[in-house]
Amino acid sequence: MANKITRENIGSPNAPFYTPPSGTLVKTTQSNGVISKIPSLFTSLKIRGITLPNRIALSPMCMYCAAGDGTLTDWHLVHLGQFALRGAGLIMVEATAVTPEGRLSPQDSGLWKDEQIAPLKRIVDFVHSQGVKIGIQLAHGGRKSSTIAPFINAKAYENNKITFPQLLPEEFGGWPNDVFGPSPVQWDAEHANPKELTIEQIHMIQEAFVAAAKRAEKAGFDIVELHYAHGYLAHEFFSPISNKRTDKYGGSFENRVRFGLETAKKVREIWSEDKPLFVRISATDLVEDDEEDSWEIKQSVELSKLFKDLGVDLIDVSSGGNTPKQKLLLKELYQVPFAEEIKKNVDINVAAVGKINDPKLANGIVENGQADLVFIGRGYLADGNWAIRAAKELGVIIQTPVQYHYVIKNMMKL
Ligand SMILES: Cc1cc2nc3c(=O)[nH]c(=O)nc-3n(C[C@H](O)[C@H](O)[C@H](O)COP(=O)(O)O)c2cc1C
Repeated sequence: MANKITRENIGSPNAPFYTPPSGTLVKTTQSNGVISKIPSLFTSLKIRGITLPNRIALSPMCMYCAAGDGTLTDWHLVHLGQFALRGAGLIMVEATAVTPEGRLSPQDSGLWKDEQIAPLKRIVDFVHSQGVKIGIQLAHGGRKSSTIAPFINAKAYENNKITFPQLLPEEFGGWPNDVFGPSPVQWDAEHANPKELTIEQIHMIQEAFVAAAKRAEKAGFDIVELHYAHGYLAHEFFSPISNKRTDKYGGSFENRVRFGLETAKKVREIWSEDKPLFVRISATDLVEDDEEDSWEIKQSVELSKLFKDLGVDLIDVSSGGNTPKQKLLLKELYQVPFAEEIKKNVDINVAAVGKINDPKLANGIVENGQADLVFIGRGYLADGNWAIRAAKELGVIIQTPVQYHYVIKNMMKL
């Protein structure tokens, strides 16, 4: 049964219109009077007190254009707002640093001070005005911090002969001497020489995650996602490639996952009981070298069980990012097998991400029980109408804002 749509005014002061939840299934197309099966991609997903209208999420993507102090701008309002107008079931704000030193670049989003709440709240209010849910990814870049933002690359600094990827020196606003990791192990020669975090500093970063989550609550977010993937701080603790510590945060599996588990537990304790907590992990370091210990899928399965026990609601399964030795997988659906492995072994919601560009394949992932949610990244940047196109290809009509709907619904018909 398609969800019933009611027209109540849920607009914010800046969007005061009668706008039913965008992205909700309105109806299936009919052939010979027979209603076809509802594609799994367009079924709703309830996690704690939050119901997503479909299984399509905008993947968190750094835009590297926050104001100098990590504050989001009108650009982010329009960028993220567009997806709320076009059927995404969930929008995830880009990696948002919990401390200034934890930014990848000076242009990163941040939530380490109260002044950063209002611009985020403006975005949240707009997205909510369309009945759409929005989460924020909280991050600390660890040893990969203080780099030049990708598109502000060599050209911007041509005369100074800086090339990308590259550590950002102090004279350009970087903080190369304040880059920290679990151990003093460089990602590669182009990145900072990280200093080993003291226990006290570890606790300060954990409290910074908690403080940022409290601010996310004030901004009205529905979901917090902890960024524990892509070679950033938590992943650096997980992986023996980057964690050489001999104290209780290094060595055994239990010790290496301690930082991430403790942080997630602290965030879960203050994050509303009725709101979901997601964690994005790199399921594997993608290192084939048998000589070197690395982070592997079987450890991710064990870690996911521990996350479930402390109240994490969804594991968002990515891979790689912690070493230049990684053998990147580049084919379609390349990370889906990792999501499936976790789904098979752990009773927890799982999201798949990575080259899920074909709506029929996306639907198959949910249909086959490989994952509960799909995150779409580059495919969404290339086509903001991804969900509308998916609806058309899968033979359903989804709600879009009433201002567009009487036009778009005709385009969704086959
Ligand atoms: C421009 C850009 C920025 C990204 N920033 C983030 C980020 O902030 N946090 C994150 O977890 N992943 C980030 N990623 C990775 C994407 O979320 C996604 O996992 C990856 O691109 C694979 O999915 P796709 O093939 O659908 O793009 C970024 C990717 C791109 C292309």
